[in-house]
Amino acid sequence: MSKEINILNSNRSEVSDNESLKQLEFIEKAKVYVSDLEKELGRKPTACVVTFGCQMNARDSEKLLAILKLVGYEETESEKADFVIYNTCTVRDNADQRVLGRLGACSNHKKKNPHMKIAICGCMMQEQSAVEKIQKSYRFVDLIFGTHNIYKFAELLCTCLESDRMIIDIWKETDKIVEDLPVLRKYPFKSGVNIMFGCNNFCTYCIVPYVRGRERSRSPKDIIRECEKLVADGVKEVMLLGQNVNSYSNDFADNDPNKITFPQLLEEVCKVEGLERVRFMTPHPKDFSDELLDVIGRNPKIARHIHLPLQSGSTEILRRMNRKYTKDQYLELVDKIRNKLPDVAITTDIIVGFPGETPADVDETIDVVKKAQFDNAFTFIYSKRTGTPAAGFADQVPEKEVKENFDRLLKVVQETARVQSEKMTGMSADVLVESVNDQDASLVTGRMSNNTLVHFPGDESLIGEIVKVKLSECHGFYFSGERV
Ligand code: 5AD
Ligand code: SF4
Repeated sequence: MSKEINILNSNRSEVSDNESLKQLEFIEKAKVYVSDLEKELGRKPTACVVTFGCQMNARDSEKLLAILKLVGYEETESEKADFVIYNTCTVRDNADQRVLGRLGACSNHKKKNPHMKIAICGCMMQEQSAVEKIQKSYRFVDLIFGTHNIYKFAELLCTCLESDRMIIDIWKETDKIVEDLPVLRKYPFKSGVNIMFGCNNFCTYCIVPYVRGRERSRSPKDIIRECEKLVADGVKEVMLLGQNVNSYSNDFADNDPNKITFPQLLEEVCKVEGLERVRFMTPHPKDFSDELLDVIGRNPKIARHIHLPLQSGSTEILRRMNRKYTKDQYLELVDKIRNKLPDVAITTDIIVGFPGETPADVDETIDVVKKAQFDNAFTFIYSKRTGTPAAGFADQVPEKEVKENFDRLLKVVQETARVQSEKMTGMSADVLVESVNDQDASLVTGRMSNNTLVHFPGDESLIGEIVKVKLSECHGFYFSGERV
């Protein structure tokens, strides 16, 4: 007897333009189930959304939470909640391990709470081996779904509340975008806006193209409409999200009037009245155009921050990574940015320990860090992802050597970041206040246009405001200051 409902072969053609309406009906249905549960428990049922990974996942989690709250759950941070959902990442193996550890702990909570439901979704669930592992060793999980059908969450939630079986619904791919659903923003004053999904680049170490599928862009009209709605709802800053924003609209036909370049889209977004800051993440260095630099230059609303993943400074490693640029091309691009936009902070991602990487290759990376003078860099140890080309490369680097190279690189990264930040000491900057400081309630914390954090005296009433702050003292990655 099967204890699973496997919807693996869901018919994708069922996705119609009325999908959002259909999901709203499921929300109404789920409300009844949750209200029955409330009566049974004698209190409001609670829900907890646990997010791993990138900004895209954070945005997806806002959608999951919105639906859970709409149907009657009360939000909690505790994983002892009546409904717990893990939104997973699989870019590196340690993210997978962390989720499995948390799931294990959750099973103990479930033993004490028979009403508890546990769900798991996101990138890790797009990998068959991960789903198989959950099916085999984590039998207490109630609902598994992937990245392509997250918009069906209300429907899946209903199925899950109706059944004691493990519900599995994973789509291998989709050509649909359903975005017009409720979202509950973590911050009232800033929001991510998806402009495209998926990735076509197939960097040889990266699992993303396999779990997020091919590039699909949203129409400029839908993106602008979403930005306008967000502004009407109090948002001051948006971050346009895509795995490679420079290839925005490449998937549209040449004669499609929606086909505008990413810089053109950025410029349109800047025109939205009331919107004060626009960020974007992530551009790929291989197709970073002069047009984009011009648009950033003439639009003060665009944040003075470019995240430009380097991955490696060795031309040979870059070739084996399928990055499609050389060390010199990357450095030329950085030079161009620094010359045209001297106030822009440049941050990056670097991987250490890619197969075949020698200490001399790492020296090349360190050389780029020194020459580019990154304002910050996220350094990662290479993680072998099954199914990617690099996982099959013969010359995996021994762990000890990777660690040594990593430490060597990190020292230089921290040094350049400190030197870069210090340059702003004594200047004044516009700061968007995000929260009351965790450590000291007499301070608030905000972000400058170039993404650097600033702490300064203030109270809750400033949250969501953009204020001018003098950057009195640099503490490495952040400043302390005072209002001017
Ligand atoms: N191992 C380590 N880091 C990786 N990244 C992507 N795939 C891997 C991997 N297999 C890093 C890249 C990317 C960032 C989001 O994650 O640096 O830019
Ligand atoms: Fe992964 Fe490369 Fe696509 Fe970025 S551009 S998501 S690193 S394949």
